[in-house]
Amino acid sequence: MIKKGVILAGGTGTRLYPATKITNKHLLPIYNRPMIYYPIETLKRAGIEEVLIICGDEHAGDFTRLLQDGDEFGMHFTYRVQVGSGGIAQALSLAENFACNENIAVILGDNIYEDDFSDIISDFEQGAHIFLKKVHDPERFGVAELDKNKKVINIEEKPLKAKTNYAATGLYLYDKTVFDKIKKCKPSTRGELEITDVSNMYINSSEMTASFCQGEWTDAGTHESFFRASSIARDLILKNEI
Ligand code: DAU
Repeated sequence: MIKKGVILAGGTGTRLYPATKITNKHLLPIYNRPMIYYPIETLKRAGIEEVLIICGDEHAGDFTRLLQDGDEFGMHFTYRVQVGSGGIAQALSLAENFACNENIAVILGDNIYEDDFSDIISDFEQGAHIFLKKVHDPERFGVAELDKNKKVINIEEKPLKAKTNYAATGLYLYDKTVFDKIKKCKPSTRGELEITDVSNMYINSSEMTASFCQGEWTDAGTHESFFRASSIARDLILKNEI
């Protein structure tokens, strides 16, 4: 059972420059609403109402002006500011007090999902759980290696040559040990604390489970994926699926 969610909306969004020159990536519109509305709605569909939003320092005021206390969504929002862009795991480390030893659902602020994850999220008890999706360009993502029983045996962050086509998407269910695991992470070659290293610690101690997204999924962090995200979002909204 998970009652708390964390949305990671820090980082600099340099891959979307110049669209991100004077604003934050997660505030840009995807079809008819700001990008961050999609992860908020994913958590809401899953029954999560208590949410910590981690945003970058430069535009923190715009996030609070847009989203306020979460009333508009029937949710409750609090905020923390990540200074700089030390990586996804570094951003998540700021949620330790908010989690307060409870399980959390962590979602990246640029990920758009069609699926309803409420069953998996309410059944989750301990360890970690990730959500995989078959993609045609796995080298852009954390890529899951699976054994013959479809159990995840490793995740490789942006491999030069991917071993499978399964991307680890940007939704992670973690138990309270996640913060001790983050403390053991070392910066990667791109100078970030990687969420993939955290997930691999769960895999190495046989505490990781995974499922496959059934519906559409994309990130929106590059011009191409941003364009695709707008088209997916339009289809889903017009079909009333989200
Ligand atoms: O979209 C799924 C992919 O997201 C995963 O497959 C990868 O394993 C994972 O590393 C991540 O890859 P990206 O390179 O696409 O991550 P990006 O740097 O674009 O960051 C994604 C979101 O994470 C971003 O929208 C906001 C948040 N973030 C990122 C960084 C670097 C932060 O909150 N703080 C940060 O310092």
